[in-house]
Amino acid sequence: MEQPVLKVESLTKIFTRKGRPDMKAVDHISFELMPGECLGLIGESGSGKTTAVNMITRLLDPTEGRILLDGDDITGISGRELRKVYAKMQMVFQTPAESFDPRRTLGDGIGESLRNNGWGRARTKMEVAELLERCGLSADFASRYPHQVSGGQCQRAAIARALAIKPKLLICDEATSALDVTIQKEIIALLNDLRWKLGGNLSILFICHDIALVQQFCDRVLVMYRGKIVEQGRPDDVIRNPQNDYTKRLIESIL
Ligand SMILES: Nc1ncnc2c1ncn2[C@@H]1O[C@H](COP(=O)(O)OP(=O)(O)OP(=O)(O)O)[C@@H](O)[C@H]1O
Ligand SMILES: [Mg+2]
Repeated sequence: MEQPVLKVESLTKIFTRKGRPDMKAVDHISFELMPGECLGLIGESGSGKTTAVNMITRLLDPTEGRILLDGDDITGISGRELRKVYAKMQMVFQTPAESFDPRRTLGDGIGESLRNNGWGRARTKMEVAELLERCGLSADFASRYPHQVSGGQCQRAAIARALAIKPKLLICDEATSALDVTIQKEIIALLNDLRWKLGGNLSILFICHDIALVQQFCDRVLVMYRGKIVEQGRPDDVIRNPQNDYTKRLIESIL
């Protein structure tokens, strides 16, 4: 049987602050993401989506639970070993500029991981040009700085950057939320296109609070509410026939 790219077991995060009650931001969530699959994660603001993602990407230590990437337990990994993790798993954030150093060109940012892997200058430059073009930007964007491009263009460059080292898993946390609706659609179309161009080998975890976007794009969706996964299934089925009261309200609010 095929092995999941990502497996999350009982993942939990409790934030503790002096004098305040404990905050269970993520409460024993478990799920699997298969090769080539696009999985949506939706839920209202504060439901724990980003906290879950921050644990998966090892930016935050879980209170409990395990994270397996390609079968390897990465729950306790830190420091230098993380580089191996980020060769397989890359992120795209809500604010496109977050992916880039404002004092360096987009080309430098996109090529950084290749250079770190020992690629020469000329070969990196050619690959960066190809990555930009694959993401719908002309090669001359490589010499621009983040403040010299639009939000949508910067997000395309951020996707090019994330794909440079050919990850198996791309995690997009509200990657389209800061963009206007037309540009949102373009970015979704780009991600869809990339999935096919990469031969169905790219798995995507797509965090979003808009179930309509998830429906256009994802094979399966998880609904989070107050730290728990309350429902999961094919987006069409979940929208047509929600089992959970919270999901029902979430869907009514967009119709
Ligand atoms: N560092 C922290 N310390 C204490 N509480 C936190 C911390 N980070 C997040 N929280 C709380 O955990 C809960 C989940 O937050 P999280 O950012 O994961 O939600 P989200 O689903 O990503 O929301 P949004 O849709 O607004 O991005 C919130 O109640 C938040 O206030
Ligand atoms: Mg969030």
